[in-house]
Amino acid sequence: MDNTSQILERSAEAFAGQRVLLVNPVLDSLCNVLQAKWRLWTWDFAVWRGLSTSLEADALAFSHLCPEYEELDAAILVMPKAIERAEYALAQMAPLLAAGKPLFLVGEKKGGITRAERLLERYGAAPEKLDSARHCQLWRVQIDRPVPAFDLAEWTRHVVIELPDQTVELVSLPGVFSHGRLDEGSELLLEETASLPRGRVLDFGCGAGVLATALARRNPDARFELVDVDALALYCAQETLRLNSIDADVYASDGLSEVHGRYAAVVSNPPFHTGIRHDTSIAEGFFNQVTRNLLPKGELRIVANGFLRYPPLIESHIGPCEVLRENTRFKVYSAVAPG
Ligand SMILES: C[S@@+](CC[C@H](N)C(=O)[O-])C[C@H]1O[C@@H](n2cnc3c(N)ncnc32)[C@H](O)[C@@H]1O
Repeated sequence: MDNTSQILERSAEAFAGQRVLLVNPVLDSLCNVLQAKWRLWTWDFAVWRGLSTSLEADALAFSHLCPEYEELDAAILVMPKAIERAEYALAQMAPLLAAGKPLFLVGEKKGGITRAERLLERYGAAPEKLDSARHCQLWRVQIDRPVPAFDLAEWTRHVVIELPDQTVELVSLPGVFSHGRLDEGSELLLEETASLPRGRVLDFGCGAGVLATALARRNPDARFELVDVDALALYCAQETLRLNSIDADVYASDGLSEVHGRYAAVVSNPPFHTGIRHDTSIAEGFFNQVTRNLLPKGELRIVANGFLRYPPLIESHIGPCEVLRENTRFKVYSAVAPG
């Protein structure tokens, strides 16, 4: 089990037989090992897919919003990577707990759990560190004040992105990629004016939907499909498309798991850069799989950090790789599948 699950297991008596809301769960066996009446909320489609085989459908939600589970005895948040995502989740969890009920936060020290006290003190006095082990900490606060109902609008950011040929109104939520601005890599990809082939186009890892929105306007003969693993990104992408009057399909996928059929083009600012310079294994897996989703002469167009050695991988799986644009940090690559 994950370190965060192991530290929760050490406090098993606090949860046994209780009705517990677990938010941002890890894909492991915690819910089977620790006997509680679990209610889960995840925004990660990979986790949802993995856990849905072992939990009843009404006990597990994949959504940008926490379901209004009732009569909870406790709630646990597994610390997300982005602190603002933790704030967003806690603001939905706390109103579901009656006064006196405990709200727990668990996470790795390197994953920001050291901010637990600050995050929890909004909901009750004197948050306590209950345990510390395996590079993780478990914190608890008792709800001791009225908590305002969650209002999604207060967490939604609307940003206007001015491109040379159009204005895109972007909707964003906490922890969605480049929250509230246009990423420099995505901007470079959008500087490329070469049109895309007509037909189905996939925006892989769509985030708030900026690439598909701008490219759909420029390529009226393309029909866009947007996929992402993150439920908040999918909600934002849907809202972005709606605000910009673009008709496209948006759905969840872990990698290309739910992507079927062949596309005239796949565009992406892909997520596979882990920060480890030489780790290109996830990228390679993607280039390998995406060949099955490209039509003959279908185009893969991506932007990536210039130092990532993608061209040999792209060439070995798809075809000759051309640099369409570059600046000091990013490169836009295009490769066309054999005809
Ligand atoms: C670099 S961001 C690009 C977002 C957006 N296209 C843009 O240009 O602003 C990569 C996106 O990939 C998504 N992602 C990460 N892992 C994924 C996976 N396994 N399957 C699908 N999408 C994933 C992330 O949630 C994120 O939204």
